[in-house]
Amino acid sequence: MHITVIGSGYVGLVTALCLAEIGHQVIAVDSDTAKIEALTRGEAPIHEALLPELLQRHNGQRLRFSAFPRSAVTASDVVFLAVGTPQSDNGEADLSQVEAVAKEIAPVIHRSTLIVEKSTVPVCTSERLREILCGAGARAGWFSVASNPEFLREGSAVTDFLFPDRIVAGVDDEFSGFLLQEVYRPLTSGAYYRQEDAVPCPRRYEGRARWLMTSAKSAELIKHASNAFLATKISYINTVARLAEAVGADIDEVCAGMGSDPRIGGEFLRAGVGYGGSCFPKDVAAFAAVARRCGVEFSLLRDVAQTNEEQRWRFVERVRRAMGPLDGKRIGVLGLAFKEDTDDVRESPAIAIVRELARQGAAVCAHDPAAMERARAALWPTRITYAHDEYDAACGSEGLLILTGWRQFAKLDLQRLHSVMKAPVIFDGRNLYAPEEMVAAGFAYHSVGRMSPAVKRTAAIPVLKREPAGHSPDQPSCRKAPQSEAGPRLLPAAAQACVRS
Ligand code: UGA
Repeated sequence: MHITVIGSGYVGLVTALCLAEIGHQVIAVDSDTAKIEALTRGEAPIHEALLPELLQRHNGQRLRFSAFPRSAVTASDVVFLAVGTPQSDNGEADLSQVEAVAKEIAPVIHRSTLIVEKSTVPVCTSERLREILCGAGARAGWFSVASNPEFLREGSAVTDFLFPDRIVAGVDDEFSGFLLQEVYRPLTSGAYYRQEDAVPCPRRYEGRARWLMTSAKSAELIKHASNAFLATKISYINTVARLAEAVGADIDEVCAGMGSDPRIGGEFLRAGVGYGGSCFPKDVAAFAAVARRCGVEFSLLRDVAQTNEEQRWRFVERVRRAMGPLDGKRIGVLGLAFKEDTDDVRESPAIAIVRELARQGAAVCAHDPAAMERARAALWPTRITYAHDEYDAACGSEGLLILTGWRQFAKLDLQRLHSVMKAPVIFDGRNLYAPEEMVAAGFAYHSVGRMSPAVKRTAAIPVLKREPAGHSPDQPSCRKAPQSEAGPRLLPAAAQACVRS
């Protein structure tokens, strides 16, 4: 099939490459001509596994790049819209790029064409898109609009596309359903997986992709509801982690117990410094905004976002409590990307934390295996230094923060690390190490929702006490509030009382 993908960001580029990989003739379009030129030369603009390999395999063959959407659309049966839908000031998704593209391509739709929303958009956007296309000159009857949300995670986007848990086809007419089915047939029939040169599957896979046909509105809701639910899971477990800290329990044990119930599932229960990235923060806000617009107050999502925001400040507060005033202190930071395996720093908790440490006067030296260049731009004009490896970042520091879950950060040479640090204090915002291991290696070790062995013993005592009559479960009376040197500054009082170093 002949397919155009408009927008060559993370989603658009991966979609275009993977559609070429499963056998289609694809034109990837972007208005950024420098990006298109670089892609045409075979240069991948982002750090994403398998992307360079697929680019090399298909560039100039089944995949071409273009800065001209109109000529691409006239040559295509299916057009995927994968342009950005950033958050606007009121939390709603800003659809101006989607609308601009629709207006631009409408006049050249002269044959049956399927327009597919791939960007994350609020429910009912398909209706709006139809109106815009008609208003801008596309003849009704010559085009259809469908919603085909993506569930790609940065870092594993290529294999997420090729080995999906489900493919959601949101269609309101037979033509759309038929064409979308043809687009994905190599995956739903399993034919792609039988190819000798197919990308290897990173996990056990059923042999064919699960196909889920819905209305366009349901598909739009599925996307927002899925991301908001995953974000809710993370904020939920981070709140449980606060409770675990308060009573001396272990969040890993709690997650193992919860996650083994298949109704809950073990994924997205990793406590830490909170979620970031270009999707969850924006989608939680946009989902709440569209619900409000439709007359539904989704207040749960406000709490999810607020809990996530607090999580990073609680972490900074914990560092400050353990280290004292940060002014003039040298602090090493491992990780700047919003998650491992990507160079993306958008809405990264690490960036927010580094900025706050610097604001409090700390001399920060940071290392990230892939995101330093983007972090430099995002952090500007915050003054921090960048290190070429983990030990360089830790060298001479009085505290080392782990803020991104890169695999190599979980395999550090602890003896070497200990020897280069001025004070062996580690704040692990991704729970990459067992507290016992770190304490045995001579570190003062702080993580999220877990106590270091020495701390655990003392914290366990108050839990055994019976609460006096009339005790309110909301009051954190089962443990002593820690002494604060400077009193609550970043956190509400109740949350402050839960921070334990
Ligand atoms: C997310 C969704 O997982 C994808 O399904 C979706 O397609 C994508 O958004 C999108 O809408 O485009 P992504 O943002 O790439 O993917 O990354 P995730 O792996 O979901 O992680 C998001 C954030 O949550 C990261 O900061 C990560 O560190 C954090 N996280 C994740 C946790 O703090 N705990 C967890 O247990 C899992």
